[in-house]
Amino acid sequence: MSSADVAQKGTQLDAGRLAIDGGTPVRSRPLPWELPGAHWIGEEERELVERVVLARSPFRFYGPDLQGMVDTLEAEWKAAFGHRHALGVSSGTAALGIAMSALDIGPGDEVMVPGYLWVSCVSAIVRAGAIPRLVDIDDTFCLDPEDLERKIGPHTRAVLCVHMSGAPGRIDRIAALCRARGLALIEDCAQTAGASFQGTPVGRFGDIGIFSFQLNKNMTAGDGGMVVCDDDTLFRRVVALHDLGYPRTPAGRLDTSDPGIQLWGMGARMNELTGAMLLAQLRKLPRITGAMRSAKWRIREALEGTRGLTFRNVLDPQGDAGPFLLMALPDEALAARFVAALRAEGIAGPAGSLACLTMREWGLHWYSNIPSLVNRRSNSRDGHPWTHPANAFAQDYDYRAGALPRCDALHANGALLTIASCLTDEDVDDIVRAMRKVAAGVLS
Ligand SMILES: Cc1ncc(COP(=O)(O)O)c(C=O)c1O
Repeated sequence: MSSADVAQKGTQLDAGRLAIDGGTPVRSRPLPWELPGAHWIGEEERELVERVVLARSPFRFYGPDLQGMVDTLEAEWKAAFGHRHALGVSSGTAALGIAMSALDIGPGDEVMVPGYLWVSCVSAIVRAGAIPRLVDIDDTFCLDPEDLERKIGPHTRAVLCVHMSGAPGRIDRIAALCRARGLALIEDCAQTAGASFQGTPVGRFGDIGIFSFQLNKNMTAGDGGMVVCDDDTLFRRVVALHDLGYPRTPAGRLDTSDPGIQLWGMGARMNELTGAMLLAQLRKLPRITGAMRSAKWRIREALEGTRGLTFRNVLDPQGDAGPFLLMALPDEALAARFVAALRAEGIAGPAGSLACLTMREWGLHWYSNIPSLVNRRSNSRDGHPWTHPANAFAQDYDYRAGALPRCDALHANGALLTIASCLTDEDVDDIVRAMRKVAAGVLS
């Protein structure tokens, strides 16, 4: 063997050796930050925000030279997704609280919620004075309709279906079940702006849908949210609740005259600066989700069939917004090794970003990681709502790990790759190469 052959052989051997074991990493440059909408912020956002600044009219309901940014955002949102009503609000968390109160949910009510979620879902239920009832997830990483049906009881009032990680689960079956059992359906679409299920945009299956425009979301203004619904009476409540408890006159002033709509408002209005940014982002949303979807599915298709690696069941890939690739590994130790090995290969973002994680590292997305739920915390001295007599039915509900077997297994064995909205072909190729290399070294 010539010395060149020996060198080449050495390189080939090293190419197979995992970086975590001293081999050469697939890449040395960090991947981009995951934040989907943020990568696309540019001239269009600046131009619309500047208009608001120059008009000195940042409040949506009145001002010296109102630019109508939030109004236009809502109008374009409705046109894009087919909702009858849409209302810009200050955050997804506020939107969830508004949805609960608009549906009149309170003590004595139980709201079904999946165990893979975000802390805001539970906090909205608890702050409304109701009781969260945990439901397991299925292979879509979303609410399992069979476990839901098993758990519906005399106190069940509503289902909070959370479309996690960019794509809905079996929302058609869940919506049919809610209709059949007379339950309200709230869709949490915070992570799925621009997603759909068999051609119907998310947020159109339930009574109310909510969206978030926080920094990690498909379109963003740093913070912001949207509430959508079709029912006129419900929407009047939504509008009053997001504001100061009352509707507004055409001149934008509070109208306390209607005894049918005198509520307690949440002070969660969207301002015009946020509306301007989101209007520019909404116009780019199909391109943002299109970029993520195509990168994600290129990675996924290249790895389909890899031994030991199971992908989330995405029922309608065309409707996937694409920001996450969710996987399950054979066990917890292999999930930890797989992720550590991928990071060592350079499948990691800049400091502070979250590109490649085990599900154990995914914090308040898992019910058993939410201390205020596990420990039944209250915002008031009397322990409300856990101590409310109307909630006595929930005394034995247990929120500790062990409550949901499927959730617990995916929490332990799962892994997640965030798909930035600006990945280059080279980035995608590196991810595929690294995943193949790590799968060969760790899973075979
Ligand atoms: C599923 C889900 N629901 C609700 C929220 C709350 O949204 P926000 O951060 O805008 O309050 C988020 C995001 O943070 C989320 O991921």
